[in-house]
Amino acid sequence: MIKTDFTPDSIAENKPVSLELPSGDGVVITRVNGDLIAFSAKCPHAGGDFREGEIHRGRAYCPVHQWKFDLVSGRCVGDENYRIKKYRIQIVDGVIQLDI
Ligand code: FES
Repeated sequence: MIKTDFTPDSIAENKPVSLELPSGDGVVITRVNGDLIAFSAKCPHAGGDFREGEIHRGRAYCPVHQWKFDLVSGRCVGDENYRIKKYRIQIVDGVIQLDI
């Protein structure tokens, strides 16, 4: 588990926050329909960085080719063979931890 600096209350609906793992990989955390969602910042298509994209109505938009991904299912809208990598979240001592 990776401990973050974020409390659940600090994550707003469709407003992303991000962090960098010790490996250098990026993670985006947001909230969709009230649920916290954490996913890899690396686009499964060609490696675009979702930290530079947008989240709108529960979908993450890649800044490179503008593909969109449903954050609940993780699937690309238009080509379900592509999925974002999601991480399980736990709240420990009031802060978000990621199962990585
Ligand atoms: S790199 Fe993300 S859509 Fe192509």
